[in-house]
Order: sequence, then C-alpha cells, then structure tokens
Amino acid sequence: MSPRRPVAPAAGPSSVSDMLLGLGGVKAAVPVQPPQPEQIDRVHSALAQLRVGETMAANLAKLQQALAVNPDSEILLHQMARLQTRLDRRADALLTYRRLLALRPDHAEARHMAAVLSGQAPEKANADYIAGLFDAFADSFDEKLVGWLDYKAPQQVAGMAARLLDGRVAERSIDLGCGTGLLGPELKGLVRRLDGIDLSPRMIDKARQRNVYDELIVGEIVVGLLRRPAAYDLVLAADVLSYFGDLRALFMAVHDCLKPDGLFIATVEKGVEARYTASKTGRYQHGETYLRKRAAEAGFEMVALEEGDLRQEEGRPVRGYVFALRPQPLAPADPLAALSTDELIQGLDAPSSAILLDAARRMIGSDFAVGWALDIGGCMGRHVADLRNLAQHLDMVSADPDRSRRAFEAGLYDDCDTDATIPFLEARPDHYDLMLAADLLDREQDLPAVFSAVKIALALAGVFIAVTTACSEADLREMAKAEGLVVIAVEPVSLPDGAPALCLIAES
Ligand SMILES: C[S@@+](CC[C@H](N)C(=O)[O-])C[C@H]1O[C@@H](n2cnc3c(N)ncnc32)[C@H](O)[C@@H]1O
Repeated sequence: MSPRRPVAPAAGPSSVSDMLLGLGGVKAAVPVQPPQPEQIDRVHSALAQLRVGETMAANLAKLQQALAVNPDSEILLHQMARLQTRLDRRADALLTYRRLLALRPDHAEARHMAAVLSGQAPEKANADYIAGLFDAFADSFDEKLVGWLDYKAPQQVAGMAARLLDGRVAERSIDLGCGTGLLGPELKGLVRRLDGIDLSPRMIDKARQRNVYDELIVGEIVVGLLRRPAAYDLVLAADVLSYFGDLRALFMAVHDCLKPDGLFIATVEKGVEARYTASKTGRYQHGETYLRKRAAEAGFEMVALEEGDLRQEEGRPVRGYVFALRPQPLAPADPLAALSTDELIQGLDAPSSAILLDAARRMIGSDFAVGWALDIGGCMGRHVADLRNLAQHLDMVSADPDRSRRAFEAGLYDDCDTDATIPFLEARPDHYDLMLAADLLDREQDLPAVFSAVKIALALAGVFIAVTTACSEADLREMAKAEGLVVIAVEPVSLPDGAPALCLIAES
C-alpha cells in the first residue's frame, strides 16, 4: 500500500490573513491516490484552496446579511474588508475599508489597507497597525507560521550568518522585529549577546519566555537603532522588511548602529526590479535592483544575496531574498560634498522647469498625488520640491553620471539613475504615472524611438509632459500619435529668455 502523505498543511489556514480571520477550519482528509507525492500535494492543496474559497464566499454572504441589518458595525465592516481582500475583490475591499474609516478615522489597519488598495501605499506600515496586528497574532504565531506555512526565514537568516561569520562569534547582535523570538535559538553559538526590538508588546512577551535575549525593547526599529550608534557587530531581520516599503531610512539607521566591520542580514519578499510594491496582503515586496541601490546609497556593499522560498501563502511559495550587507570602507573625499543643497539644485534647473511644473499641476490637480513620477534628465531643479507634492515617488534619470550624482546629493529624489533615456524607459513598462522632460525632445535624434519608449514606460492613464524648441506642433502631434500616445495639448510657451517653445501634454 502506498504511504499516506500528511494532509495537515492543506487543511490549515493558507495565509497570514486567513489566520487573522480565523478561517483555518477545512476538515476533510481526501483519499490519496495515485501515490506520487507531488501529485498528492497538488491535489490536496487545490482541494483545500477550493474549500477555503467556498468557506470564505459563504462567510462573506453571511457578513453582507448581517451588515444589511447593522450597516454601521465596525466589527462587521472590518471582517468584511479582510474577507473581500482575501477573495481578491479589491475594489469592494477598498470601499469597505473606506466605510470603516468614515466611522473610525483612526482605524490603523483601515488606513494602511485603504492606501495600499488604492495604489498609494505609504512608505512603511504605520506603527499602530503593526502593533495591533501582531498583538492579536502573538498567541498563535509560532504554531501557524511554523506548523502551517512552512516558515523558514529565521533559519535562512541564521544560516547566512553562520556562513559569513565563518567560525567567529559576534560580540553584540540585535534581532530587528524579533517577534516571538523564533530567530534567537537559531543563533546559538554565533552571538555572545543578543538584543531584540519589536513594536508588538505581546510578541515581545513571547520572545522573553524563550530566555535567549539579553535585552528586549518594545519600540520602532529605526527610532531604536538611531539611539545606539556603532553598537552592533551583527544586525538581523527575518521577515520584517516586508513591513517597510522605502528602505532608505532603515538602511541608514542600520548602517549607523553597525560597527565598521559589522554585518546586516535580512530577508525581503521578492518584488519587481527597480522599486518596491505593496500587495493585497498589506506587505511590501522589493526588487533586487532596488535593494542594491538603497544599500549602496546607505554606504553598504552587498556581500551575499540568495533567492529562495520564505514560506507558503495561499498554497504557493512566497519567493524572497536573503541578503547580507557590510559597511563600505570610507570613500575618498568628494568634491560635490563641498556644494550646498541650493547650489546643487541650481545646477539641475532647466529653463523650462516652471512650465513643466505648471502643466503637471493642471493635469493632476493640487489635491491629489500620483504614485510614481520621473524627471527625465533631472532638470526640474528649483521645482523638484513642488513636484514632490504631486507624486509619492519621484525618480530622475540622466545619461550624465555627474548630473545623477548631483541629484542624489541634493537628496530630493527617491532614485537617481545614470542611464540613456530610451533603454531606461524600455526597461520599466507601465511604471510611471507622470513623466516630465525638459530637454529630451531637443537632445535626442530618434524621436519616434523616444515616443515609443515613453509609451512603454507610462502607466495606464499616465501623463507625459515635454517642452521643445526644436519641433513643430504638427510633427509633435504626428509622432506622438504614431506611437500610440493621446495628445491632450500642444501649448505655445515662452522660456525665461523670451525664446518661443512648445509644451506637449500627452497621455498613454
Ligand atoms: C512576520 S513577523 C517576524 C517575526 C520574527 N522576526 C520571526 O522571524 O519570527 C514581523 C515582526 O516585525 C515587527 N515589526 C514590523 N515593523 C516593525 C517596526 N517598524 N518596528 C519594530 N517592529 C516591527 C512586527 O511587530 C512583527 O513582530
């Protein structure tokens, strides 16, 4: 007789959100045949997913009935929003979270999830949301994550630490977002002293019960680290960076608290190349390019990066990276460092920057911010700060490395790239909601290729605004249209020296 494979993983909650919803109860063990282990796993997993889906749909119908009787119930709205999110009914979930916010404007989860579901994810999850989420989860965290979801991040982080320490013992280390302390025991023999920090008091209580941490702090990671400059040899974070979108402040704080030859080892969920994203789980994903860039900006060199499965979610593995950063040796003195921010900004200001900002404001409106914007050429200078109010993320790209460095030093952009415009845009399909180009159309020879690349990089309903002194209105309209852009306007404008120019406004 063929051996039976355990059915428990398929019958349990299939994601963290399931657990929080209490939807763990799929009971039936389905007869197992044929006896191929992978097939058995697949059949069980598919059946379990189906049953979970059916259970959730039935629960949703019940919630809707209950809400019809009691439309202002915060508890019912909250449960319904979570369920709709799990069922991937994002538009419905967004409306429900907004209904909840109308009743409870301070509802931390509703604030976070409404922002994520509307495509306006905050730079990191707010502290009240994290503390509430994990306080509620503390009692069942270990059983659910390790028992049901094949959670491996602590072992992956500790494994990389063991390899890189190579027999050495770290004098002082800290486990960021230590949670219930699953990482602590894995570090036995690798560290002499271990601290832990976490926003959730109840998770910290669980960690304390393990008796492996020397000091446990209830607090926010970045705030906590900045209080301890050059204190640690080893800083670790297992499955915590998925609650941070923008990693800049975190990386800088880690760099600050590490000794010069220290190590930072962490996991992230794998995202798209050059950016971070937030998924319906409320967690963030990071692309490899994004990680490398932020690490370099904060003064780290990446000494290891491995891809693997961090755990299961909805019957599928969550892909991620385990990576290690080491502070870079001190760089030689930099001439740009002598310039003030104002001087740096002045060097980035094109004559058409005010015209571009004005057109962008008219297209977007002053009460609204788009998600991602790009300053092509890094020419917005004095107006970058105003432009920032129109977009959550602002990147610049220039083929001139000196210009990109100036922009980076000015500290006004989220990302500063050195690349030729066309390949840069072609590598970022559907990426930008707003693109501004002060001199692109005057310096590029192959304008159809430029418009084609712009079309590729513009997100749905994205706006491209460019000023040119070299093209006629008819040529602009024809070339933009030929590449599939919708021309909204071609406006005659005057540059500050009185020279006539045209401002093209087009949509994807
Ligand atoms: C998925 S759990 C991982 C816990 C632990 N590292 C492990 O591997 O079991 C994420 C933990 O990070 C904590 N956390 C998230 N963002 C935080 C922040 N900004 N400051 C402190 N703790 C944070 C949460 O409270 C939670 O306990």
